[in-house]
Amino acid sequence: MQRPRYALRTYGCQMNQHDSEKLASLLHHAGYGLAPGEDEADLVLVNTCSIRDKAEHKLYSDLGVLSAWKRGGEGRAIGVGGCVAQQEGDRILKRFPAVDFVFGTHNLKLVPAMASAAFEGRRSVDVAERRSLDRFELPERHPDCPDLTPGRAWITVMEGCDMFCSFCIVPTTRGREISRPGEWIISEVEAAARRGVSEVTLLGQTVNAYGRQEARRGHAQKVGTLPFADLLARLDAIPGIERIRYTSPHPIFFDEALIEAHASLGSLCPHVHLPLQSGSDRILERMRRRYSARSYVALVQALRRARPDVAITTDLIVGFPGETEADFEATLSLVEEVGFVDHYSFKYSPRPGTAAGALDGEVGPDVAQERLERLQDAQRRLTLDYHRSRVGDKARVLVEGQSRRGNGQWAGRDPYHRVVNLVSGAKSVCPGAFVEVEIVEATPHSLIGEDACAMPEASPREGLWIEGVAKGVGSPA
Ligand code: 5AD
Ligand code: SF4
Repeated sequence: MQRPRYALRTYGCQMNQHDSEKLASLLHHAGYGLAPGEDEADLVLVNTCSIRDKAEHKLYSDLGVLSAWKRGGEGRAIGVGGCVAQQEGDRILKRFPAVDFVFGTHNLKLVPAMASAAFEGRRSVDVAERRSLDRFELPERHPDCPDLTPGRAWITVMEGCDMFCSFCIVPTTRGREISRPGEWIISEVEAAARRGVSEVTLLGQTVNAYGRQEARRGHAQKVGTLPFADLLARLDAIPGIERIRYTSPHPIFFDEALIEAHASLGSLCPHVHLPLQSGSDRILERMRRRYSARSYVALVQALRRARPDVAITTDLIVGFPGETEADFEATLSLVEEVGFVDHYSFKYSPRPGTAAGALDGEVGPDVAQERLERLQDAQRRLTLDYHRSRVGDKARVLVEGQSRRGNGQWAGRDPYHRVVNLVSGAKSVCPGAFVEVEIVEATPHSLIGEDACAMPEASPREGLWIEGVAKGVGSPA
C-alpha cells in the first residue's frame, strides 16, 4: 500500500494545538505523510475541545461531514481525540458508526496502533488516565513536522489540573496534575534552539503550579522537578532562546521567586496572561477560585513593581450562576482598575459533572449577552488606549507570517504579545526571524510597525525563506 496520509482538525487551547503537533510527529514516525487536504487523506483525526458547549457541538457537526467523507472513498478511517473524547469515551463510538477509534488526552502514543487496527476493521476506544511520566516520553519531533509558527515552540511542562474551579471541565478531561522532570524540559528547549527556535511558550493547565504536587509528596528530587522560577532561570541560560512565555498561570501560584524572575530574567517576556474570571468576591468564591479581587490586584501590583511595563491580559466569565448586576459591575470596575491590555470573555456555559451545575441563580442568555458586550466595549477602549501609548516605541518583532489583514503585509509579535503589522519597503522578511521596528500607528486590534533601522539580514531557514514585498506608507527605506 502507498504511504498512508493523514489530516488533522484541531479545536481549542494551545495545549490541544500542541497535542496535534505531537500527533503529527507520531504519525510521521509511524510512516504516514500529511495529506494536502481531507479528500486525499486515509485518516482524519479530530482533536476536540469541550471547554464550552459550543466547542463540543463543533465535533458533532464535523462528524456529520466526516461520515460523508468516509463513504466517499475506500479504506478511510476517522479517529476522535481531545477533551470531548476523554469526556464521552465509547458513547462517541455508539452514537457515530463512522468513527473508528476514540483516544483520550493521555493516550496520544496509542494513535498509530489504533489507526492500524481501524484499517483492519477493528474499532477501539482508550480514554484511560495514565498517571505516569511515560505519557510524556515521545520520540523526538519528526523532521518533517515544522513548528506551527516558525521560530516559536510550545513546550509542555505540566498537565492536568487539581483546582476544580466550579465551572471548569478541565480537571475531568485532563486529569490530575503531573509535571515533567526539569531535565526533559531543558533538553527539549535546547533541541528547539538547535533547530532555530528563539521563543518558547511553556504550557500547562496551571503552568506555575509546575512541580507542586511532586514537592508536596516529597518526590521532587526523585522525579527531577524544580521550583518554577528555577526552571525559568535554567531556560533563560540556553543560548539562542531569546523569549520565554508561560501560559496559563493561576494567580494563587505566584511566589516571590516567580515575581522576581520577571525583574531578573532577560528572556522572560513582559506579558502575563492572568485569568481573573470575575471581579466580585462573592462570585469568585462560588467559582472556587481561592483568591479575592484585592489579592488579585495586589499580585498585579507586585508584577508591575518587578517589571513596570508588564502587559496583563485575562480571561473573564459573565453570567455565572448568581451573578447580579452589582457583581458584574465589580468585574467591570476591576477591568478598568487593572487596565488589562486585552481579555477573552465568555458567557458561562454549564459543563457536565461540574460543581457549578448545582448552583442556583441562573442568569438569562440576554442578560449574559448584554454583560459580555459591555465588557468587550470597555476592553476595546482600554486596548486602543494601550496601543496608542505604544506609538513612538521601538519594538523587536518576531515575524510570524502574512498579516491577517490580508493586504500582503507581514505580521509578528512584540515581547508584550501584541500583534504588530509591518509596513516597510520591499525587504526580505523571514518568518521566524526578528525585525526592529518603530510603532507608528495604533489600531483596535494591533500595532503598525515600520523599520526603525535597516532590517537585519534574516537567517535563511530552508523552506521558509520568503521574499517580502510589503509596501509601506511613507516608509523610510
Ligand atoms: N463557561 C464559560 N467559560 C469557561 N471557561 C472555562 N470553563 C468555562 C465555562 N464552563 C473559560 C475560563 C478559562 C478559559 C480558558 O475558558 O475563562 O480561563
Ligand atoms: Fe479549569 Fe480552574 Fe483548572 Fe484553570 S485552574 S483549568 S479554570 S479548574
